[in-house]
Amino acid sequence: MDVDVDPADFYTGIVAEMYAPLKAVSQEAGPYAAFVREAGSPALELGCGDGDPLLALRQLGLDVEGVDSSADMLTRCRRRAKEQGVEVVVHHQRMEALDLPRRYRAVFLAGPTFNLLADDAVALAALRGIRSHLAEGGTALVPLFVPSPTPAGQFGRARTAIGADGAELRVSVVGEERDEEARTQVTVLRYERRHGGVSTAVDRDWVLHWYPPGGFEALAAAAGLTVASVADTADGGVREYRLRAAD
Ligand SMILES: C[S@@+](CC[C@H](N)C(=O)[O-])C[C@H]1O[C@@H](n2cnc3c(N)ncnc32)[C@H](O)[C@@H]1O
Repeated sequence: MDVDVDPADFYTGIVAEMYAPLKAVSQEAGPYAAFVREAGSPALELGCGDGDPLLALRQLGLDVEGVDSSADMLTRCRRRAKEQGVEVVVHHQRMEALDLPRRYRAVFLAGPTFNLLADDAVALAALRGIRSHLAEGGTALVPLFVPSPTPAGQFGRARTAIGADGAELRVSVVGEERDEEARTQVTVLRYERRHGGVSTAVDRDWVLHWYPPGGFEALAAAAGLTVASVADTADGGVREYRLRAAD
């Protein structure tokens, strides 16, 4: 079955259910704890999903809230917080339509979640939201990468896991289109669940959008932000931008 969903709703339904067991990369809390301690509190994680690293930061006693466009991911986040005995405040909003009452000394995304914003217009709206939610002297941290095309040999190869209920879970790449001009890659991911003789399969478009040299800086400037520093992370491929209010 093909399901055509808005990019901001990619992590819903079966994708949210299978996110934790099939997760390929986990964000370490350490660098984000260091960022929040340096930039100050309160802090806000955009695209907090089911709570990594948000819940670890809360366990360290840091005043960090979360925002995510997926109600399903936030349900999982709240459940995990309860299991871990930590209190957490999360908001169900899209980062390109951010509207919160607080202002934050630190606003960050953990890993290159900003690349999920499907075009420059949505990215600019998100940057404007970040700008308007920064407290005076506040800093935003935005990690970005340029995705590589999926190698031909990876097509159809499933990553598998066993769900909490014993279901067999699989995700595989079944198609991909890359548009260098639009700087967008759409990967069709097939999510499959088999349990007790019942199978479910959903194909969903995973959209990534990237920036040419200087392109992100220009969007940030248009949103009233200035790049305070740029650093390449040790694990390679990801560039972290620190942004401050331009005025
Ligand atoms: C790759 S997951 C990362 C979740 C979590 N930070 C982690 O590392 O496990 C990306 C998250 O960003 C959220 N997201 C995607 N587009 C968004 C948008 N436009 N606004 C807010 N959240 C968004 C998704 O719902 C998803 O939970």
